Amino acid sequence: MSVVARSRAELHDALARTRGGGTLALVPTMGALHAGHRALLREAGRVADAVVVSVFVNPLQFGPGEDLERYPRSLEADLEVCAQEGADVVWAPDVATMYPQPPLVTVHAGDAGAVLEGVVRPGHFDGVLTVVCKLFSSVRPDVAVFGQKDAQQLVLVRRMVADLDLGVRVVGVPTVREPDGLALSSRNRHLGPDERRSALALSRGLREGAGAATDGAAAVLAAAAPVLAAEPGVAVDYLTLADPATLSPVTEGATGDALLLVAARVGPTRLIDNVALTLGGAS
Ligand code: PAF
Repeated sequence: MSVVARSRAELHDALARTRGGGTLALVPTMGALHAGHRALLREAGRVADAVVVSVFVNPLQFGPGEDLERYPRSLEADLEVCAQEGADVVWAPDVATMYPQPPLVTVHAGDAGAVLEGVVRPGHFDGVLTVVCKLFSSVRPDVAVFGQKDAQQLVLVRRMVADLDLGVRVVGVPTVREPDGLALSSRNRHLGPDERRSALALSRGLREGAGAATDGAAAVLAAAAPVLAAEPGVAVDYLTLADPATLSPVTEGATGDALLLVAARVGPTRLIDNVALTLGGAS
């Protein structure tokens, strides 16, 4: 069983007993753990001697009208997953423990937090970086493990660590997919059967785009866009190529590594997905 800490004193005790002389990995989550999180926990166990999982639905990263209330909460089931995957400590504070007073000082994600997801979710990444920074301060991990599915989050966490000298190694874990390609997400549970079928257009579009990578950026977008446009159940927010380190847009003649990112609404559910690719110079 993992040790469950709900107060700062319990976390302090659990860390003192767990850390020993070895390295510590942190896996930050908002709970509702699925196979994608299991992959993060396993990677954490590979790269460090002990693993702490945080389970906290962070109100700071939800905008007005977003799904904070609807966000699934399933701590008992999450503890089971953490135990099965060999996590040493689960840090599961409530909101009053995490934020004893409304924070005056927060982390600002800057320009890279205002593009892509930041356009429809203003302030979202300020909330994410603030809570991740607090988690790093309270757990003091050597390594932190994040999913590559939330590509913009991963880029911003890496930049925060570099820009603020946080001294945590950030590891990105490849997206876990259903056999038919759907990227695992806590939000998939909101999809009805028809919506789930429509949602497959995201991964299909990314696959088609990646298949055209050697022909350059324009070819990638030309291959991916029609797949999404052909699916009436899908309303695309963005489909774009970005620099994997800065998220700045990739220009037409660019070569080298890039991320192809998509966000779309499938019914009321907003989904994101991405694929890393290497652009050739033919465009
Ligand atoms: O990816 C998530 O689940 C959240 O954004 C995170 C990193 C746990 C911060 O609340």
